[in-house]
Amino acid sequence: QATSIPADRVPDMDKRKTMNLLLLGAIGLPTATMLYPYTYFFVPPGTGGAGGGIVAKDAFGNDVFADEWLKAHGPGDRTLTQGLKGDPTYLVVEKDKTLATFGINAVCTHLGCVVPWNAAENKFICPCHGSQYNDQGRVVRGPAPLSLALVHADVDEGKVVFVPWVETDFRTGENPWWA
Ligand code: FES
Repeated sequence: QATSIPADRVPDMDKRKTMNLLLLGAIGLPTATMLYPYTYFFVPPGTGGAGGGIVAKDAFGNDVFADEWLKAHGPGDRTLTQGLKGDPTYLVVEKDKTLATFGINAVCTHLGCVVPWNAAENKFICPCHGSQYNDQGRVVRGPAPLSLALVHADVDEGKVVFVPWVETDFRTGENPWWA
């Protein structure tokens, strides 16, 4: 009897529920409000949009506009841009001065060096262990086991947009190993 709280000092159930709700509200509401901007910070608008595409970025981190790019890059040009997941990705200018509808991921399929374009040889030649890829990134000499990965290079509102390539690899007729 001495340790128990007198009955008139114990809040009834309704009151206690109300207090719990208020407590939850007091903690929950600011937490949700505070989380909101962080969520947006990690998912900036304009990336990871419909179909997982992203706008290609040039060496300075600027969006690549197809028209300007074609003024500065002639037929046969292969120049690195920043692609999906930040991977270095070649934009390809075809011989007819149009942008190719595919981009080539520059990461060597052997041990991951970035493979430079060698215009004189008309190939991508890896400086690390000598693997070679043709002008579309198809492997033509090892030790690289696989061709360079492809992405779609679309143009949306004037900008080049890379979209994951999940279809058959047109160079080999096989399923894409990277998808
Ligand atoms: Fe390219 Fe080894 S990393 S050949």
